[in-house]
Order: sequence, then structure tokens, then C-alpha cells
Amino acid sequence: MTTDDELTIESRLAEQEYFEPPTEFVGQANMTDPGVYDRFDEFPEGFEEYAAMLDWDEHWDEVLDDSNPPFYEWFVGGKLNASHNCIDRHLDERKNQTALLWEGEDGEQRNVSYQDLYREVNEMAAALRSAGVGEDDIVTIHLPMVPALPITMLACARIGAPHSVVFAGFSASALAERVDDADSDHVVTIDGYYRRGDFLEHIEKADEAMDEVDSDPDVLAWTRHNEPQVEVSDDYTLVSELLADHRGERVAPVSRDAEDPLFLMYTSGTTGQPKGCQHRTGGYLAYATGTAKYDEDIKPSDTYWCSADIGWITGHSYIVYGPLSLGTTSVMYEGTPDYPHRGRTWEIAEKYDVDIFHTSPTAVRQFMKWGEEELEGYDFDFRHMTTVGEPIQPEAWLWYYKHVGDESAVIVDTWWQTENGGHMITNLPAIQDMKPGSAGHPAPGIEPAILDDAGEEIAPESGEAGNLAITRPWPGMLQTVHGDDERFIDEYWERFSDTDSDDSADWIYEAGDAAVQGTDGYYRILGRLDDVMNVAGHRLGTMELESAIAEVEDVAEAAVAARDDAEKGEVPDVYVTVREGVEETEELRERIVESVEEGIGKFARPSNVLFVDELPKTRSGKIMRRLLEDISNDEELGNTSTLADPSVPETIRDQLQAD
Ligand code: PRX
Repeated sequence: MTTDDELTIESRLAEQEYFEPPTEFVGQANMTDPGVYDRFDEFPEGFEEYAAMLDWDEHWDEVLDDSNPPFYEWFVGGKLNASHNCIDRHLDERKNQTALLWEGEDGEQRNVSYQDLYREVNEMAAALRSAGVGEDDIVTIHLPMVPALPITMLACARIGAPHSVVFAGFSASALAERVDDADSDHVVTIDGYYRRGDFLEHIEKADEAMDEVDSDPDVLAWTRHNEPQVEVSDDYTLVSELLADHRGERVAPVSRDAEDPLFLMYTSGTTGQPKGCQHRTGGYLAYATGTAKYDEDIKPSDTYWCSADIGWITGHSYIVYGPLSLGTTSVMYEGTPDYPHRGRTWEIAEKYDVDIFHTSPTAVRQFMKWGEEELEGYDFDFRHMTTVGEPIQPEAWLWYYKHVGDESAVIVDTWWQTENGGHMITNLPAIQDMKPGSAGHPAPGIEPAILDDAGEEIAPESGEAGNLAITRPWPGMLQTVHGDDERFIDEYWERFSDTDSDDSADWIYEAGDAAVQGTDGYYRILGRLDDVMNVAGHRLGTMELESAIAEVEDVAEAAVAARDDAEKGEVPDVYVTVREGVEETEELRERIVESVEEGIGKFARPSNVLFVDELPKTRSGKIMRRLLEDISNDEELGNTSTLADPSVPETIRDQLQAD
């Protein structure tokens, strides 16, 4: 094809507003009936369609108990076990089928069949029990992308012990904070793993965290190879030794109430303290399974690859629980997409013949920057592709569609949050046309609204931006913030609900995002409205960053502003004032960056540390980050009239230009 032809295709695609799903896709899709929306609008009974996809030990008596909002209960009276649903129930039909297809960064490969998974999860469940883990004990899991992670999660689920997975990139302090908050007596870690060719001594984080925690948890350590590659403390128990005592053991799955918690997932909020989003067993599993089936179009015969990390909610719902509950083959990759070369993703796609590929807009932008040449020579054929975590710009969407999907795969852009358990706004790929840059329609049964700042609903399909809210409960929603019901209400409900009312119609969930619904009914998500940033799809609280920076002795005050970034979506700029007599040196800058790495993790590194004489504050002393964001993004300054000294932002600008 000549360059001119290429240009014609590019411009044709760029002008096209909607893209129809290919006929072959529609012909085979799991959900093609537009009537599904009406079925789910029979509220709350519609959601039984998802619950019916699971095996229940006891059927529920009531779909939804909404008598004590916002503490909703789903599938009340029902009993089930998540590990049974993800493993045991598949054994009759597909015990030799691969459940987890793992590729190590060093090229090692493991095909864990459903039978293998059954054996390994049972043995680990027995091992956990023998280590003293009882039903309802919270187990903190700090593991990278190795099979030990889903195996430990499912072993916890089997014995009714809620897990709290902490993303491996989190620092020792962040791990300790989460162990303390969950009051967790058991921590599961590993000696190390591979990252860009190096063996990372991951266990050091647990070592440090154990010095920081309030209690004295037991630590269980997996090993990446047969033998530990680094020194493992005598205080820890090696999982390999424990497992050796439990070979061949079987543990009956504990029948859990639908409302019993399955896991905690910590996420950033508007204060320095992360929130432990607590997810229930029945509602969550039903929602993850149902959305994986309808939105991701997952079938048992598929090879499905979600390139997220299991340490975030996407990996929980769409690498582990949803796909395994549907009995498919789920791919896991240990490393980064550019090691040892930039074609690694496509090499894996070809090697395993991946049908469904799920990634983030940040990854798409990265691939786009590396260029389509990196895909040349790899033979793979995706039927379906997903993005999640951030808005995807139409330009990136089109590149993904053309160069990765070969114009023959559907793309679903899925909007949701850690708190939501599963997709909330996303098209059903065989039913609606795709529209680059728009998440699309509410998922079946989900009722969003766009509200103005006074809480009044903005007319649907008006094209006017406002606060995204959800006006009725759904099964995947968090139960509460672990140990803090009040914070649960404050963070999500207070603003738009009549909190004195016990009528659930008066309770409205605040998402914290801005959104707009076009005249065509499609929702476009504009980004966070609160002090939460989205860095390369990772959610970070500005207050969390600021409290890590406040640990640096020479810092007087610090404020974090989100700067738009072509690759990562947003990056943190840190504005710092130093204490009297302290010099603004490069060394101090480094200490500030290190403090963030130590307090949160390397992934949260500030992109700029900017020394200034003064921060913009209101008369009551509140820092106005919004104005710093205007400065970072080189935009016109917003309203400065409430500032104690309205000249401060301009002074900062002048100062930065002079530096
Ligand atoms: O701002 C929205 C953005 O990510 C936030 C939720 O982050 P987290 O809890 O880490 O969960 C991410 C993965 C489910 C949201 O408040 N976000 C998520 N998906 C999208 C998105 N923004 C735009 N488009 C999306 N598809």
C-alpha cells in the first residue's frame, strides 16, 4: 500500500464518528439481544441474570435488601464459595484446559490447568489453615505477577479468609499501613521477581514493613524459583516447606454468605489515608462474572489476556475472578512490555494465540509512540479489545483500532472504579457502535446521572458536563470502607444524598468524576474532580503524596498538582517551600523524590519538584491546588479572588520561568 493510500485510510477513520462491530463478531457474541437492558431495568431482579451464572450452595431469599441505605445487601440468604466457582465447577468439563497461562519475564512458561489450579489452591488452602488462618481473618498478599498470586487469593477465598492484595510496586511503608489498617495477622510475600532482567529482591519490602507495623504478623514467603534466591528471615515460613506437608490435601470450600467479604482493595481517596474498599462475595462475583461475559465476550474456548496487574482492581475482576469463573484461559505476564524488546506484547499475543486483549490507554499511547513497526512480523488476531482506567483520546483509539485490531476487532472502553467491582459505563460490543473517546452506554441495570454542583440533575443527553453519579445500587458495589462506615458515607454518599432518609431512592453515589452525556446517549468521562490523580492509570491521592513529602525535614510546605502528560495522562508536579535558612538544592529535590518512593512506591515518583517562595492560599489558609494545576498546565489562572494574596500565582509563574 502506498503512503497516499495510508493517508486516505487515516483521514477516513479520523472523520468517522461511529464504528460498527464486524458482522463476524456479532455472529458469535455472548450478548446480542438489546432486550437485555429492559430485563435489567426490572430492578433489582434483573441482576439475577448475573447471579444465575454462578453455582450457589443455597439460593438467595431476596435479591436486594435496601432497608438500611447505603448499606445494601445483595442476594440475601444465598451461600456460595468463590474458589469453587472459579475452579471446582469447571473440572467435569475442562480439567485439562489451561486456566492460567503464565509467562515469566525470563521466558519461563507455566500452563496451569484447571486440575493443577484445583490441586495447588487446595494445598495452599490447607497450608494457610495450618499457619493459623481462620475464616474471616484478613490475609495481606504482597505478590507480583506470578501464579502464586491468584493461587493465594483463591486459597483464601476457599477457606473464607478475605484477602487484601497490595500491588507489588507499593513500598514497605505503604504495605505496613495497609497491614495495620486491615488488622491483618498474615502477610504473604515472595523472595523476588524479574523486572527488566534484574531479580528484584521484593522480600526486603516485607522485612522493612515488619519493622514498621503495629502488630506482629506471620509472614509466609513464596520463592520465585525452587530455592530462595535471596536471604529469607528465620522469622518467616517458606510456603514451599509448608506445602510439602500438605501435598495432595483437599479442603472443602467454605460456604460463605453472599454478604461475607471476599476481599479488600485499598485505593486512594481525598485524605492521606488509603481506603480499604470491602467487596462482598455473592454480589461481587456475580457482577464480575456477568460483565466479563457480556462486555468482554469471554468464552471458555478463548485465550484471554488482560495486561493489568492483579494488584489493582482490574486484575482482580478481569484476570482472576471474572475470567476463571467463566472457565476461560487467562494469560498472566510477569514483566514489562518493553523487555527485552518493544514487541514483547505482540510476541506473547502470537505465541498464545490471544483472542481478547485488555489494556490501558497509557499502554496504547506507549505502543503508539514506539510505532506500528514494532508490531510487524507478529501474527495475531484479536477479536475483542478493551481499555480501562483513563479516558482514551480518539487519536490513540484509532491507532489501537487500526494497528492492533486490524480494523476487525471491537474495542470496548470501560469506565468503572475500585469501588464498583466491575464495569459501569461501557458498550455491549455487539449491540452498540463504538465511538472513539466515549465510554458509551451504562452497563445493563446501571443508572448514572450527571448532576450540577447543587446536586440537581442536568438534563440527560444535554451535552453539558457535570458530576457523575449513580442513582441506584448494583451488586458489584463496595459494602463499606473497611472498619469505617462513616468514611464510606462521607466519601461516596454525603454530597448528593439525603443522609437522614432510609429510602434508598434518596441515596446517590458520587463517583468523583466529571462526565458528559452526548445527544446520542453516549457518556464521555472527563476525569477526576476531587484531589485524586490518575497517573498512567494508577490512582493517587494528592494528599497521600503530600504527606509523604512532608516527611522530609527541610520541607516547610508542599502541594501536588496534576500536570497533563501526553503519555501518562497525568503526572504529579510538586510545589515546595523550604524551611527558613534551607538551600533549594538538587540534593533536596532527590530527597523529596525518595520520600515519595519510600512512602508510596516508585510508580508515584513526582515528575517535577518546583521550589517556590510561597504557595497560593485562601484567607483561611487552604492551599489552592487548582491554581497550581493551571500553572503546571500553562493555562489561564482560574478565580484568584479568594486568595489571601492574589499575586502569589503570578509570582510563582515568574519564578518558574526565571529558573
Ligand atoms: O477517573 C476515573 C478513571 O479511573 C478512576 C478509577 O480508578 P481506579 O479505582 O484505580 O480503577 C481503575 C480501573 C477500574 C475513575 O474514577 N477511569 C476508569 N476507567 C475510565 C476512567 N476514566 C475514563 N475512562 C475510563 N474508561
